[in-house]
Amino acid sequence: MSDIPGILTRRLDPAWTRGEPSALLPDYRERMAALVLVHPAIAAATASFVEAFAGAGDAAALQQARNAALSRESGALTEALALMPTLSAEEKRSSGRALNLAKALLEAAEKAKREHLEHAREDGSALDVTLPGRRPWSGRPHVLAQVRDELLDLFHGLGFSVYTSPEVELEPYNFGKLNFAPDHPARDAHDTYFVSPDVVLRTHTSPGWVRAMEERQPPLRLVFPGRVYRAEAVDASHMDQFHQIDGLYVARNVSMADLKATLNTFARAIYRRDVPTRIIPIYFPFVEPGVQMDVQCATCTGTGRFRDEQGERRCPVCKGTKWVEVLGAGMVHPNVFRAVGYDPEQVTGFAFGMGLERITMGRHGIHEIRQFLENDVRFLEQF
Ligand code: PHE
Repeated sequence: MSDIPGILTRRLDPAWTRGEPSALLPDYRERMAALVLVHPAIAAATASFVEAFAGAGDAAALQQARNAALSRESGALTEALALMPTLSAEEKRSSGRALNLAKALLEAAEKAKREHLEHAREDGSALDVTLPGRRPWSGRPHVLAQVRDELLDLFHGLGFSVYTSPEVELEPYNFGKLNFAPDHPARDAHDTYFVSPDVVLRTHTSPGWVRAMEERQPPLRLVFPGRVYRAEAVDASHMDQFHQIDGLYVARNVSMADLKATLNTFARAIYRRDVPTRIIPIYFPFVEPGVQMDVQCATCTGTGRFRDEQGERRCPVCKGTKWVEVLGAGMVHPNVFRAVGYDPEQVTGFAFGMGLERITMGRHGIHEIRQFLENDVRFLEQF
């Protein structure tokens, strides 16, 4: 008698992981029960193969178990069927029927498992609609642009329109027409970047006044935002490029009182509603009288003293002076009006100019001016 169940079990590998076949084939139990009735030993070996199919972790493991059972050249079933002619008629009947049932069951189980593994792979790479969405990265205006826009908005409310003029400027617009003396030290190449003897990188936004006044007739109420350049040694509070906003109001009977009211409105909107301010005289060639506006130091609230963990000392921001300079201003010099063809007997005007970096640093407690230009997102993201 030939050992057909032995042929089958010899091809089982004890290293295979076994799984639960009824999950693969809903009618597994019925089919196995029928097989057991025909040939219990062949049924037992078949069950082991089906369990190995069910337990296969991936397509390669399944292929290995399938080949051991069903391969056309060397599979256990093929070998067993090849023995059929050597069997007695009775054995042939039961074994033959059992092997046919086993083959059909193994093929169905292998197919079901293969499809299951394929779906699992697709599911793994599929879209999970329950995951939260990825936020689109969105940019924002640079902190200097934010402060600039806030200021332009404020001045817009006071009736000022925006006028922009070139960063690369003719020397007379930057200096001569603004009443700088021919030997003024600012004209020196130490302080000014010259592109050629008559062309400079503007050192302030005030040349815009001259262009606007040459182009238009009074009354004028304009603000001049923009980037300016000075040949400075760079450190934590100086850069050789920074930003200013100038303002200019020219009409009949514009007075110093108008200037003070405008500057106080500005200071209250930008700092605090009740911030103390002061105006002290200072020289600029293009205004007469010229003034500087200071606001009370926000760091020491006007005491000049500062305390922290290290104790009490002189305020590091105002250096103990209690005041922080915020802008230059004054009444437009008659020579500037003459340079643009206005009659200083007919019109008067005030002007002011402020540094955006200075205002932004005070507002946000930024101590290093170079950060504005470094484009480090860790800095930029904070505003
Ligand atoms: N242009 C001057 C500067 O850059 C600032 C200023 C503007 C002063 C208007 C007075 C009037 O320093």
